Amino acid sequence: MVFVFLLYFQTGGSSWKVETGRRDGRISLSKEADENLPSSNFNIAQLKQNFAFKGLTKKDLVVLSGAHTIGVTSCFVINDRLYNFTGRSDTDPALDPTFASELKKKCKPGGGGPVLELDQGSSTVSDAHFYKAVRQNRGLLTSDAALLNDPLTRAYVKRQSTSPVKATFGKDFGKSMVKMGGIGVLTGNEGEIRKRCAFVN
Ligand code: HEM
Repeated sequence: MVFVFLLYFQTGGSSWKVETGRRDGRISLSKEADENLPSSNFNIAQLKQNFAFKGLTKKDLVVLSGAHTIGVTSCFVINDRLYNFTGRSDTDPALDPTFASELKKKCKPGGGGPVLELDQGSSTVSDAHFYKAVRQNRGLLTSDAALLNDPLTRAYVKRQSTSPVKATFGKDFGKSMVKMGGIGVLTGNEGEIRKRCAFVN
């Protein structure tokens, strides 16, 4: 949480009050994380279900996906969208065709290729540009593109992609981050409050 806060803030996003004193487990298993995290291939129904399971709403889903305003992914992650969408060497029709051609020039079949900006052309700045890209069918991940497939999330994408809205996104993002930080908090004598968030004491 603190990592995302710093990343977001240092790349021009707004700040929010981070709740402190969260009781965390003493054991972290990557397997458990993998079982709980949504896949980038999830459709909108799967994403909504995954978020709802953790007490997060559709609004949280579309707002927190905005974290992809910064950062990168790889050709490997989007290989199926480009070259094997339904197992017949096809391309995801939800991708803008011109954008798909540009990506295919960079990414070889099988997943080889350079690092790709999640928010193309704006991946070092925390802003609402990500939503503009999604609206133009230029979202890299299936899960980002899927935000257009629900009335509420689509309306949010549309609203944020029409400037000037930066302040709205920043405020929404802080709120949803605090909510996400409250998932699965331990209580009583369970776990411990970590002195350094990435390590057990
Ligand atoms: C909605 C469900 C989500 C899915 C399916 C998803 C999936 C992904 C994937 C596949 C990547 C690329 C990783 C790689 O290529 O190694 C990524 C990157 C990233 N995600 Fe998400 N994500 C989701 C939600 C979130 C949330 C809620 C946050 C934080 C609030 C977040 C923050 C990031 C950041 C900052 C990166 C860039 C990492 C980097 O540059 O190294 N994502 N995500």
